[in-house]
Amino acid sequence: MSQIPKTERTVLFVALGLMSIFLAAIVYSVSKLGLTVPSCISGVKPFDRGEVIEKGNGQYEIHYLAKMWAFEPEVVELPLGAKVDIYLSSKDVTHGFNIHGTNVNLMAVPGAMNYAQVTFSKPGEYLIVCHEYCGSGHQNMGASIRVLPEGQAPKPIVPLAVEEHKGLQAIKKYGCIACHTIDGAPGGVGPTYKGMYGRTETFTDGTTGVVDEAWIRTSIVKPNAKVIQGYNPVMPALPVTEPEIADIVEYLKTLK
Ligand code: CUA
Repeated sequence: MSQIPKTERTVLFVALGLMSIFLAAIVYSVSKLGLTVPSCISGVKPFDRGEVIEKGNGQYEIHYLAKMWAFEPEVVELPLGAKVDIYLSSKDVTHGFNIHGTNVNLMAVPGAMNYAQVTFSKPGEYLIVCHEYCGSGHQNMGASIRVLPEGQAPKPIVPLAVEEHKGLQAIKKYGCIACHTIDGAPGGVGPTYKGMYGRTETFTDGTTGVVDEAWIRTSIVKPNAKVIQGYNPVMPALPVTEPEIADIVEYLKTLK
């Protein structure tokens, strides 16, 4: 050390000191402040609607969907201290996502999912703005998170209703599920709808055929023309419309 000039030694010590401070700051922010680096999640299908999911113990998951020119969900109420996993996706173009007063600053990229975690330890209204120019309505694109004062509980979160498949609506409308199950449970008057589409069946007249669109249409319009073996020709003809038949066909395809 004695061969090193004094000035260089000083520089060396200052540099080492600064590096230790930076390192300590990183360790401190991760371990004490819980700051995490925003990250892009792979292997997750981007969602097509916004949602708040309460996971218990003050933990929440919010799926934010950015779209021209709004965020879904627009207003979220949370209790004080809520620890939130934020997942962000876009329906159309690239949007920005910044929660004022926090270190959450993400990009909403179509087809991708971004993630950040934040804990709200102060009550108040947190504004969310889009900070990426995304078209003529960009300046109106905002949302907010309302963090309630201590002891106040947010309104219970009502899970978004999943819209029922139109084919299932038709099946219910005509009472088909009185005789056909949709979950594969046996013992119905008629065969279960589950796994029916695309299967090769033997009919009571001895012929075989595939359960396809044509067969389903025939079986709705003239129910007892081709009855699957093991069942009785007791299905009534119902005034199902063409669009409803198409919906039912599409629905049966989903019951694999
Ligand atoms: Cu979205 Cu600007």
